[in-house]
Amino acid sequence: MGKEEMIVTPWKVSGDVDYDKLIEKFGTKPITVELLERIERHAGYLHVQLRRGIFFSHRDMDWWLDIYESGLPVGLYTGRGPSGPVHLGHLLPWFFTKYLQDTFDADLYFQMTDDEKFLIHPELSLEDTVGYTHENALDLIACGLNPEKTFIISDVKHISHLYRLALQVAKHITFSTAKAIFGFTESDNIGIIWFPAVQAAPCFIQSVREGRKVAVLIPAAIDQDPYWRMTRDIAEHLGFYKPAQMHAKFLPGLGRGGKMSASMPETAIFTIDPPERAAQKVMNAYTGGRPTVREQRMLGGDPSICTVFAYYYYLFEEDDERLKRLEEDCRSGSIICGECKERLAERVKIFLREFQERREKARELLDKFFLK
Ligand code: TYM
Repeated sequence: MGKEEMIVTPWKVSGDVDYDKLIEKFGTKPITVELLERIERHAGYLHVQLRRGIFFSHRDMDWWLDIYESGLPVGLYTGRGPSGPVHLGHLLPWFFTKYLQDTFDADLYFQMTDDEKFLIHPELSLEDTVGYTHENALDLIACGLNPEKTFIISDVKHISHLYRLALQVAKHITFSTAKAIFGFTESDNIGIIWFPAVQAAPCFIQSVREGRKVAVLIPAAIDQDPYWRMTRDIAEHLGFYKPAQMHAKFLPGLGRGGKMSASMPETAIFTIDPPERAAQKVMNAYTGGRPTVREQRMLGGDPSICTVFAYYYYLFEEDDERLKRLEEDCRSGSIICGECKERLAERVKIFLREFQERREKARELLDKFFLK
């Protein structure tokens, strides 16, 4: 079977994602050891997602650090398209954003694109997407962000904060540029063609609210990069800094190939899944194991293609030594897939129970987090 063609856009990720190729194609830079050392100096430790190269690429992160080191406040911006429940893949950049917020004492603007998801999904009403904005905000708050420094924006409710900025952006982007960047076609609705201007606007909102140019960094998976290429082209023209980015890889789904996606609920773990149900999904996961236990004991498994190993790697085994041992035990055949899955399922259950508790408590805090 040949390799499937790689597609990475804000609305579709498929095929075998080659991250080195994406760096080349999108014109970004790999995160270097020097950059890691600089971040570590400020944080006191390296976040697991940096140690393991899950955040692997950036634009102008070094410049953003220069500004911070010169003593000026810096900002953060990230977001969510509320089209359904949140899965573990979405949480990855939010956990990382908390690390950045704590380290750099930065304000975070968090955009809920309830307009985008209404425009893109024929089956969703505005009531649905605005409802998911509130539900998904609980997940964000459960990640432990600072209520004094986090401002959640619902596009539908708070458009007055964004509209002037979005208009300025839109005036400088031609339809032909938008088509080239996002692949729009004649049959797309005109709402979604305007929408990139709305996603660009929060890059500048902190500058407007504070009345000075603020250096903003966007931590997100690399699927969102087209927006930033567009925004960076016009930022200085509008009198703002270009936003900097850090790009993450995708947490895979539990099936064979592809990122975790809500459109494949059997291979995604949602934060609101009953823990037992999530454990069942883990037990059905695609692994790098052999067809029989005998073969596995003799020849060992292949963690490089195993989704179960990927879950330990991304989220569920923070201890580097223990992760290494697990990898060796898999390759040597001393651990078999059933046992490895059971251990992971146990960890997923504990994680979900704790997360769901925090998520429930977040209901009381919701109001505090939304932009006023
Ligand atoms: P959305 O809802 O598709 O994704 C929310 C965030 O999760 C990241 N992500 C993943 N990260 C790791 N593994 C995965 N499998 C995975 N799937 C999604 C996304 O990159 C994103 O960071 N249009 C945006 C909402 C948005 C936004 C932003 C996102 C508005 N402004 C600024 C990031 C930064 C959206 O639909 O995201």
